[in-house]
Amino acid sequence: MNDIKPIFLIGFMGSGKTTWGRKLALKTERVFIDLDEVIVDEAGMPIPEYFERHGETAFRALESRVLKSLPLEQPAVVATGGGTPCYFDNMAWMNKTGKTIYLCMPPKALWSRLMQTDISARPALGGLTGKALLDEITAKLADRTPHYQQATHIVDQLSMRLDDLVSLSK
Ligand code: S3P
Repeated sequence: MNDIKPIFLIGFMGSGKTTWGRKLALKTERVFIDLDEVIVDEAGMPIPEYFERHGETAFRALESRVLKSLPLEQPAVVATGGGTPCYFDNMAWMNKTGKTIYLCMPPKALWSRLMQTDISARPALGGLTGKALLDEITAKLADRTPHYQQATHIVDQLSMRLDDLVSLSK
């Protein structure tokens, strides 16, 4: 029965939730759901535009509502947004509904990955780059860690293999 419970991948922006989520879903024959994508569909606009027009408070309310109305009848792997576990009762809800796996990475590693992406697509990082971006990641990660640490399982993203995720999802 445990098998049908959804797996929620949680972790900071750039920690690979979507990439690993797709791999895990394929390997375990589950449906893959990207929470950010469902939010974009629901909002009818990209996330940076939503932040700009309605602000972060409205985004967090939408995020929580969309999370709790995901179609989870079929076995699923859900890649959440980096902030999802940190607002309202989202973390408790995910732990009650399924299992959460935290893809843990140190700030420097997150920073070097995020530096290679389009930062404007991540409004929560305020368009920062270079040393200011590293400082922001370090501070935000410290704030978020108490939420992330409530995960059912915590994995070291830099050394884990797909088989480790598969075992944890059983
Ligand atoms: C956010 C992370 C984003 C997205 C939104 C806010 C955050 O998702 O939900 O831009 O506050 O960490 P990713 O973690 O997939 O980038």
